[in-house]
Amino acid sequence: MKFNHLLMAASAAFALAAASGARADDIKIGFILPMTGQQQSTGKQEAAAAKLFMQQNGDTVAGKKVELIIKDDGAVPDNSKRIAQDLIVNDKVAFLAGFGVTPGALAVAPLATEGKTPEIVTAAGTSIITEKSPYIARTSFTLAQSTVPMADWAAQNGIKKVVSMVSDYAPGADAAKSFAAEFTAKGGQILDSITFPLANPDFAPFLQRAADQKPDAIFVFVPSGQGGIFVKQFAERGMDKAGIRIIGPGDVTDDDLLNGMGDPVLGAITAHIYSADHNSPTNKAFVDAFKKANNGMRPNFMAVGAYDGMHLMYEALKKTGGKTDGDSLIAAIKGMAWESPRGPISIDPDTRDIIQNVYIRTVERKNGELYNVEFETFPSVKDPIKAAEKK
Ligand code: PHB
Repeated sequence: MKFNHLLMAASAAFALAAASGARADDIKIGFILPMTGQQQSTGKQEAAAAKLFMQQNGDTVAGKKVELIIKDDGAVPDNSKRIAQDLIVNDKVAFLAGFGVTPGALAVAPLATEGKTPEIVTAAGTSIITEKSPYIARTSFTLAQSTVPMADWAAQNGIKKVVSMVSDYAPGADAAKSFAAEFTAKGGQILDSITFPLANPDFAPFLQRAADQKPDAIFVFVPSGQGGIFVKQFAERGMDKAGIRIIGPGDVTDDDLLNGMGDPVLGAITAHIYSADHNSPTNKAFVDAFKKANNGMRPNFMAVGAYDGMHLMYEALKKTGGKTDGDSLIAAIKGMAWESPRGPISIDPDTRDIIQNVYIRTVERKNGELYNVEFETFPSVKDPIKAAEKK
C-alpha cells in the first residue's frame, strides 16, 4: 500500500515535470524584477525584452533547454534577497538577473558570491554595485556614465547656473555628485542641491524652491517611471515658460512615458545610453519586433538592458559549452563585445561593468510622437567613478 502511494506520487511528479517540459539539466535563468509597485514600468519593460529575445533566439543553447523564471520583488530589497535565495537553492538557476533598483541588486550580491551564481545587473545604475561581488556583471549603465558627458555638454553650451534635483538614494547621490564635480570643474555653478524621497514623491515644493533661484537649467535624476509626474509638476509651476531647461541623465525622459509628457518636455536635453529613436538597422529591427510583440509598447533603456543581458547569458553559455559553474560563466563574460540596439557595447574585463556610447539628445516631435533625438556621441564611455578610483 505504502509502496503504491509512493509509486503514485512519483508518477504524478513525473507527469508534472513532463507537462511543464522541465528537466533536471535544463538551464534556468531567474529574473528578479519589480512587476508591481512604483517601479513596475521597469519590470514590464525588462520582462517583455527577455521574452522577445527568447522568441527570436530560441529556447535552446549549447544543446540545453533554457527556462526563463520571472519573479516579482516589488523593488523591495528584502524580497529580492529572499527570492534570490530560493532561486539559487531550489531552482538551481545558472544566472540571477534583473533588479529594478540599486538596493535590490546590492541585497543579492552576497548570495551571488556564496552561491557562485553570476548576477547579471540589467536595470540598476549605482557605480559600486559591480564591486560588491566578483560574480556580478552589468548590461545596464551607471549614472556617472551619462552625467559626466551631460556636464561637459552643458558647460560648453551656455548653461552656467544649475539647480540639482535628485531622488534621495544611491543612484541619485552618484548622479548629483558626478555631475557637480564635472560641471564646476568646467566653470559651471551649482546654485542648490535638492533631494526628494524615492517613494511617492511630491515634487512641487522642490520645484518651487528651484524656480525661485532662477537657474538656467535644473539637473534632474528620477528613476524611470517617475518622469511623467515630474514634468507635469514642472509645467504646472510655469517653469518651461520661464525658460528654465531640463537637463540630466535620460531617466526623466524615458521612452516608456515620454510620449505622454506633452509640449513642456520639448527641448529637454539629456545624456543617455539609449533612445528608441537611435538610428541603426539593429535598433529599428528591435523596436519593430518589440512593439509588435507588446501591443505597440515602445521599448525604453531598461528593455535594452534586459535584451542585452539575455544576449550576454546566451553567449556565455555557448562559450562554456553549456557548463553552468559560476567561474566558467564569469570568465566567458569578461571582455565580451557586441552590437546592441543602443550601439556597440562591451563588458570591461577588469570591472565586469559595461562600456558604451553616451548620446546627447533633445526631445523633439517626430511624426506626431515625442522622441529623444540623438545629436552628439561620446564614444565608448567607461564608468567615470570607477575610472577615477583607479587613478
Ligand atoms: C537604480 O535604482 O539603480 C535605478 C533605477 C532606475 C533608473 C536608474 C537607476 O532609471
